[in-house]
Amino acid sequence: SGQPVFTIIVLGASGDLAKKKTFPALFGLFLHGHISPKTRIIGYARTKMDRPDFLKRISQHIKNTTAPKVKTMLDQFLDQSTYVSGAYDQDSGFLALEQEIQRVEREAKIYDRLFYMALPPSVFIPVANGLKRNCYTTKGINRLIVEKPFGMDLESSRTLSKALGALYREDEIYRIDHYLGKEMVKNIMILRFSNQIFGSCWNKDHISNVQITFREKIGTEGRGGYFDEFGIMRDVMQNHLLQILTLIGMEAPRSSNAEDIRDAKVNVLRAIPEVIESEVLLGQYGKSEDGTMPSYLDDDTVPKGSKTATFAAAAFHINNPRWEGVPFVLKCGKALDQQKVEIRIQFKDMGNAIFHKDVAARNELVIRVQPQEAVYLKMTQKLPGLGMDTVMSELDLSYASRFTNLTVPDAYENLILDAIVGEQSNFVRTDELDEAWRIFTPVLHKIDRGLVPVEIYPYGSRGPKHLPEFVTRFGFERHAQN
Ligand code: BG6
Repeated sequence: SGQPVFTIIVLGASGDLAKKKTFPALFGLFLHGHISPKTRIIGYARTKMDRPDFLKRISQHIKNTTAPKVKTMLDQFLDQSTYVSGAYDQDSGFLALEQEIQRVEREAKIYDRLFYMALPPSVFIPVANGLKRNCYTTKGINRLIVEKPFGMDLESSRTLSKALGALYREDEIYRIDHYLGKEMVKNIMILRFSNQIFGSCWNKDHISNVQITFREKIGTEGRGGYFDEFGIMRDVMQNHLLQILTLIGMEAPRSSNAEDIRDAKVNVLRAIPEVIESEVLLGQYGKSEDGTMPSYLDDDTVPKGSKTATFAAAAFHINNPRWEGVPFVLKCGKALDQQKVEIRIQFKDMGNAIFHKDVAARNELVIRVQPQEAVYLKMTQKLPGLGMDTVMSELDLSYASRFTNLTVPDAYENLILDAIVGEQSNFVRTDELDEAWRIFTPVLHKIDRGLVPVEIYPYGSRGPKHLPEFVTRFGFERHAQN
């Protein structure tokens, strides 16, 4: 077939991310024929283990392996996977890796290489260097998938980008933000730019405020070491939620081409001033009300007395003619009451609503990213019956009932496939990353220095006590039945 064929080299192959996300996604693509059946996989990590151990490890998170088709395909996938162990900072390891890649390439007649860096930030640059020196092919394509965190602030991110930029061309670098691979996030541009009804009212004349909310039920649970260094604002808001904001706020790109899309994204980011501390609300979870769930500080992997935020809300403003005066509020937190990611676009109040004593409740467009993807529009209509009473109701597009025979693909499968076909629209370009850090860096530095108060909220609650007041301040009006 005409499918591109790559050797996929997973660096950090023994780590959590590789095990939970990368390998299952690679196998998903393989199973469904989205990547060539000739694809070869090579794992690389420091851990010394033999091939059977490695294969056992990568099968761990693969589901439904008892189904006959899955089992056959898994056997083939594992058959085409090998492992090399070596250091991240010495040429000898990368030379051994290069030998293995060459062996595989000869055997399977493959020329192109996709390096997936599922690595901690400390070894990022040494590995990028080692790969460039020892494993960069001149016979075909080299692509590098890079995982966050991309730095801690503007300066460290620039250092990283510069180091990476000295080794690889921009079109070889694929920075993953897995939210850009989510079905609903990919739907935002289509909703906006393929529907007259949304396109024409998508501005300050009609929209009052935008809320983008990420809620998780679980706490840090053993990931406290990584998390404590970064905090929720760096972990989720600066990347995933800001990406959503960008897609909601951007002007129409000139075309659907990757550079045009990313140009439009960078442009809207440029119009966003830095977040200010008086427009930030931080929280850290304490024990649950009933005392059964642990506080953040109870997590053994969290340093004692840590002030790191596990909840953050912040207001953003886009200073351009479309959005002047419309606040965008981003909220994210761990150990909350619900597991949900959604976007709420709240329209302005209707003047002169003749069927109401006061004002009619606002229209609200809700885009539910997860779980159970849905788009629904809250609107006022007549309550069926004899009188002329009104009721708030919904135009409801719920994926589960509308698209019964389709499954929503996994975000990682989506993005890895993009990297294989060379589609960069949904990867973060260097200038885009730079703008994202510019917006957050001053306030992050204040937070790091302990200058922004952190409110304790109970595990399993809706977040800090001051949250309702905070969102009201930025124009949000909660509907009675929300
Ligand atoms: C990751 C964060 O990037 O995204 C995690 O590091 C977070 O803290 C995760 O839990 C959320 O991703 P998803 O796909 O489960 O919503």
